[in-house]
Amino acid sequence: MRATEVPLASILPLTAAVNETGHLALGGCDAVALAREFSTPLYVFDEETLRHQCRQFQSEFRSRYPDTAVAYAAKAYLGRALAAVLVQEGMSLDVVSGGELAIAGSVNFPPARIHFHGNNKPEEELRQALDYGVGRIVIDNFHELRLLDWLAWARGLRQKVLLRLSPGIDPHTHAHTTTGILDSKFGIPMPTGQAEAALRQALETPGLELVGLHVHMGSPIFELEPYRQAAKVVLAFAAAMQRQYGFQLQEFSPGGGFAVQYVEGQAPPAIAEYAEAIVSALSEGCREHGLPLPKLIIEPGRAIVARAAVALYTIGSAKEVPGVRRFVSVDGGMADNIRPALYSSQYSALVANKLLDSRRELVTIAGKYCESGDILLRDAELPPLEPGDILAMPAAGAYALAMASNYNASLRPAIVLVKDGQAKLMRRRETYDDLMRCDVWPLE
Ligand code: LLP
Repeated sequence: MRATEVPLASILPLTAAVNETGHLALGGCDAVALAREFSTPLYVFDEETLRHQCRQFQSEFRSRYPDTAVAYAAKAYLGRALAAVLVQEGMSLDVVSGGELAIAGSVNFPPARIHFHGNNKPEEELRQALDYGVGRIVIDNFHELRLLDWLAWARGLRQKVLLRLSPGIDPHTHAHTTTGILDSKFGIPMPTGQAEAALRQALETPGLELVGLHVHMGSPIFELEPYRQAAKVVLAFAAAMQRQYGFQLQEFSPGGGFAVQYVEGQAPPAIAEYAEAIVSALSEGCREHGLPLPKLIIEPGRAIVARAAVALYTIGSAKEVPGVRRFVSVDGGMADNIRPALYSSQYSALVANKLLDSRRELVTIAGKYCESGDILLRDAELPPLEPGDILAMPAAGAYALAMASNYNASLRPAIVLVKDGQAKLMRRRETYDDLMRCDVWPLE
């Protein structure tokens, strides 16, 4: 069987294949053997897919608009090995906390390529960002505007900043991940006139150098129109602000939110289509308003890492409710991937040790945690499952590990990086000692 014949090939990592034993192979490594060696739940990241996604974003945007920076949104998942790959690939990085910044700093991520986001950046984290010398801070509100101005000014600095605006655009995605609408905690509202007031203030402050404007509308966004609209609205605003206050738009970011495929039949736009929509709207808008072309900053998170990782679980108990449903449980669930429980997110699955088995049974894959909502997949059609089988869930790289918890005092899983038949541990599985490391006993 050739690599193209792997089931779910468009959702699995690029290197996915069926090996000579009929098992799923990732990066040339047998997934069943990986599960045995590192134990499950296990997250397997494919280095080739990671690098490919970085390069695709860079080439699709830069071939149309050379002055583009691709800033990976670290919130989708960040570890040191990943950060090091991003450095090598010439990526920029969007961080939203002191913690993400610390991880980036630990691999000497070039400070100039770091953008600091967040709707409530604590003073301590702003100081940390200034200490590290991050390239851009994306100001989210008036409080931060004043605070950062003061902190930078006190150091004799002029910090380059972008203003995050709330444009009043609905990207038609899950309510929990919609940010562009007016009624959102993120960004300074444009329709209310507050954006103009913030811009005027930012231009007057000695500690800040306002270089650009940012919007992020939500995630994932399956439509192109919200991006076109964002460029249109922001450029019209920038032109008005130029006339009024002499503001120069040097940088523009429509954020991230680029969708990926999780299940068969789902067809998110190709990276090239997002690039075409954004670049053409940006170029046309600038021409229309007589503005010089700004630097374009895009912030893909999910679209860089989702497809690169596969989660592996071991099948355990089963429960048949006659005439109702067959539940089959795995050894992970909402503690390592809360997305199905939180957003009703859909995933696909295959059985890593039964890829050539064409029999199908309707099952619901349950997690092991003490909550009825801990269901990973509803009504999946899979070969008959037996204890010990290895279930593989593709497109698991984004917002699973990043939102993982120790619910039920469970141990967060190991992560391995596979390439050319070699698997390297990126993060070891937690231990009971890790669980209790911060737990003080006896009390003093
Ligand atoms: N830029 C900003 C300012 C963001 O807030 C986000 C995501 C991104 C970029 C990256 O979006 P992406 O390209 O990854 O879609 N936990 C949710 C997603 C939350 C997204 C938060 N912000 C999920 O699991 O679907």
